[in-house]
Amino acid sequence: MCGIVGYIGKQTACPILINGLTALEYRGYDSAGIASIENNKICVMKDKGRVSNLNNIKGINKLDGTVGIAHTRWATHGKPSKENAHPHMDNSETFAVVHNGIIENYNELRNFLTDNGYKFLSQTDTEVIPNLIHYHFSKDSYADDNKFLRAVNQATKDLKGSFAIEVLSNLYPDKMIVVRKDSPLVIGKGTTGYHIASDIPALLEYTRDFYLLNDYEFAVMDKDSIKFYNENLVEHEKEIKNIEWDASAAEKNGYEDYMLKEIFEQPIAIRETIGSRLKLGEHCDFSDIEISKEYLSTINKIFIVACGTAMHAGLTGKKFLENLCKIPVEVDIASEFRYRNPIINEKTLCIFISQSGETADTIAALKLCKSKGAKTLAVSNVIGSSITRESDYTIYTHAGPEIAVASTKAYTSQVVLLGILAIYFAEILESTDSKVLEDLKKDILDLPKKIETSLATTDEVKKFAKKIHKEKDVFFIGRGSDYNVALEGSLKLKEISYIHSEAYASGELKHGPIALIEKGITVISILTDENLIEKSISNIVEVISRGAKTFIVTNQNLSNSDFDTVIKIEKTNPLLSPILSVVPLQLLAYFISKEKGLDVDKPRNLAKSVTVE
Ligand code: AGP
Repeated sequence: MCGIVGYIGKQTACPILINGLTALEYRGYDSAGIASIENNKICVMKDKGRVSNLNNIKGINKLDGTVGIAHTRWATHGKPSKENAHPHMDNSETFAVVHNGIIENYNELRNFLTDNGYKFLSQTDTEVIPNLIHYHFSKDSYADDNKFLRAVNQATKDLKGSFAIEVLSNLYPDKMIVVRKDSPLVIGKGTTGYHIASDIPALLEYTRDFYLLNDYEFAVMDKDSIKFYNENLVEHEKEIKNIEWDASAAEKNGYEDYMLKEIFEQPIAIRETIGSRLKLGEHCDFSDIEISKEYLSTINKIFIVACGTAMHAGLTGKKFLENLCKIPVEVDIASEFRYRNPIINEKTLCIFISQSGETADTIAALKLCKSKGAKTLAVSNVIGSSITRESDYTIYTHAGPEIAVASTKAYTSQVVLLGILAIYFAEILESTDSKVLEDLKKDILDLPKKIETSLATTDEVKKFAKKIHKEKDVFFIGRGSDYNVALEGSLKLKEISYIHSEAYASGELKHGPIALIEKGITVISILTDENLIEKSISNIVEVISRGAKTFIVTNQNLSNSDFDTVIKIEKTNPLLSPILSVVPLQLLAYFISKEKGLDVDKPRNLAKSVTVE
């Protein structure tokens, strides 16, 4: 989705802005632009296409202002074009704005402004914002220092929807104002000034000290100071947070693509997720959330709500929680959950999983659960993200920044963390034999080593990817936890290779989809649960006898001669097997995408964090 960058300080803004936009490219976008204050005038340069196109705009190299805002746009209102690209200015060119989010009442505001003589040059919802600021500014008869802030504040009061905005004005050439509501925005304190972005990785090069803005919290900056105001414009102090992510974690470090790097980072990411939470012979340590036995014993239902890959992690989380805690768990897609009137009360615990912590549907579902009296627990990778601030409890995956749009290490870290959480709950509730829990802990601690074996399948997977990269349809099948992995493998393939794929519970094949199996079609099977092996093999034999090519990910000793490709991974507790079996499927999607010459990290139409509904 759209990305925001800003800088105010002692250095020339333009190169810093372009650098920041480049770091945000992974979010997905179709146009880019910057605005800086040059000799007390706002100068806007923008265009359709890549950030690198900005360097071709005449005069961009001559910009030497030290205050600037910048944006990558992912089109919602109006096609990708130069006119619709941000920044947008008001008619008098006094204010420039970049905006992430969606202004839901923009039509109404546009009509109001049009009736008041304003003209619109773009089809965007954003263009109402600078004009509204101008409208309120011109109506304000006090000419004090806070006039600019009052106008921005009044304008935000008119907006319905979500927004993170940066505002510049040629009347206040040394100032920048930023504010957010339901859209991410962070301010980094660097050595030469303040850096603003929609995403922490864009700023890791400059700082690890961040102010994380709350909804309707305004920050007013000049080159050496920052002031914070609430929505009534009362000034307050704000704590700065140190984010421990390593700057190099947001770089490719010799890998061709972020996705490949992140796949190979999984052993480290899982080690970080386990951290000091899990030790043999001791109870799990989640002292950061302090859930009491008294509270947990009242819980009779858990919902896990998330989108995409995070929802797939939730499916495995369900198995952990039901098996170990004996509490019924439902897993929902956030965009469906919100509108199905779920039965929620104070005896329901609602868990929200989100790598970014900014997914609009997941946040909306969280707010719904809170309003119905349930306690909420967030599982996120991004410190201080919206979801973590809205929920009663937060646990972090600590997987490090995930840049590739296709999620890999976040998924395995989420599954590991949900496993540890379920053990923690089971210890509190005394719902599972301690020997069983101790064995599971051993298996979790062995995961970083065992995942190396899954990574060692790279060459074999690559060969199979070469063989099938031209196919149009692929099927994924599995039973139990293997079915959950089939869903995730299929999503990965769709996202980055653009091959149509379907994931089915193996037992469902006969109920319809087997009609699609014909000579030459590829069926990918995951086969790790000993209790289900025989039945699963029968399903595979059924597709082979109809001419299918088979790619099998298994921890069993299967004869290679019966199948086209057998990828062998390590054995572990069946609850944990998704963490090992998903890796060859991530690699398969990656190599097919490479074979087809596609942009692995930035697949078409997709965005890293989906901040609009
Ligand atoms: C994963 O590969 C996808 N890009 C997508 O399904 C993603 O998992 C989903 O949008 C949820 O994102 P979140 O974890 O940041 O909430």
